Amino acid sequence: MINFKNVVKEFSGKPVLRGMNLNVAKGETISLVGTSGAGKSVTLKHMVRLLEATSGEILIDGENILDKDGPELARMREKFGYLFQGAALLQWMSVFENVALPLRENTKLSDKEIEEKVVSVLEKVDLLAAAEKLPANISGGMQKRAGLARAVVTEPLILLYDEPTSGLDPVTSRTIDQLIHDLQRDLGVTSVVVTHDMISALTISDRIAMLHQGRVSEVSTPKDFLKSENEVVRNFLDSQCISSKFFEEFPERTLS
Ligand SMILES: Nc1ncnc2c1ncn2[C@@H]1O[C@H](COP(=O)(O)OP(=O)(O)OP(=O)(O)O)[C@@H](O)[C@H]1O
Ligand SMILES: [Mg+2]
Repeated sequence: MINFKNVVKEFSGKPVLRGMNLNVAKGETISLVGTSGAGKSVTLKHMVRLLEATSGEILIDGENILDKDGPELARMREKFGYLFQGAALLQWMSVFENVALPLRENTKLSDKEIEEKVVSVLEKVDLLAAAEKLPANISGGMQKRAGLARAVVTEPLILLYDEPTSGLDPVTSRTIDQLIHDLQRDLGVTSVVVTHDMISALTISDRIAMLHQGRVSEVSTPKDFLKSENEVVRNFLDSQCISSKFFEEFPERTLS
């Protein structure tokens, strides 16, 4: 579904992605983890060409997004829903209008059809009661859920999440994890989740990719990731006090 082939990205001659290879299969949830500055958000932005690769290929459903422009690029972007780091809601619009925005801009749906879709997705993220509030007047967790609702309202094939749980308390974080998991299960979407949060990565992912110095240092299932002998992976897990017996210690963490 998404294939990065030897992708290099330099900013003013300084390399950030140094030959990134990554394959995301249709319908899978993959998490990208790594320390701050490892290139996680930059990788995500390349998937919708918000950033231009210096070299390499980025195939979406077999088509190189780097070769496209105009309507063709717009058509490829329509496959994606994007939850930006920090939710990025428009502050002068209600939650309802924020979620309705991609439908108003990218579809020809009537106001009634838009309302039905927005209400249904706000119900899913448990935000219907806050529909008329402004983003400044709801909590950080509610803002993330509103961002999530906006990302999924167009029913995209691929969902990109940038730090969906950062800045949230552990309980709210687990609610977001469950929501991402449910969306994947109910809609069958392909999901790429950038996160610092190892508990989140371990519980929602089919596979976890560890980014280090602009490359993928390891990709494996959560169980194999925990057992990895890769030094980069071990340091990352140790820094968050995650033991290799995580699933035995916390069986209730498994989502269904
Ligand atoms: N538009 C840009 N111009 C110049 N440098 C950039 C730009 N965007 C990102 N970078 C640099 O690329 C590197 C990777 O940034 P990126 O945002 O992908 O990190 P990250 O892994 O998402 O980190 P964090 O966990 O803090 O969000 C950083 O050194 C950053 O300063
Ligand atoms: Mg980032």
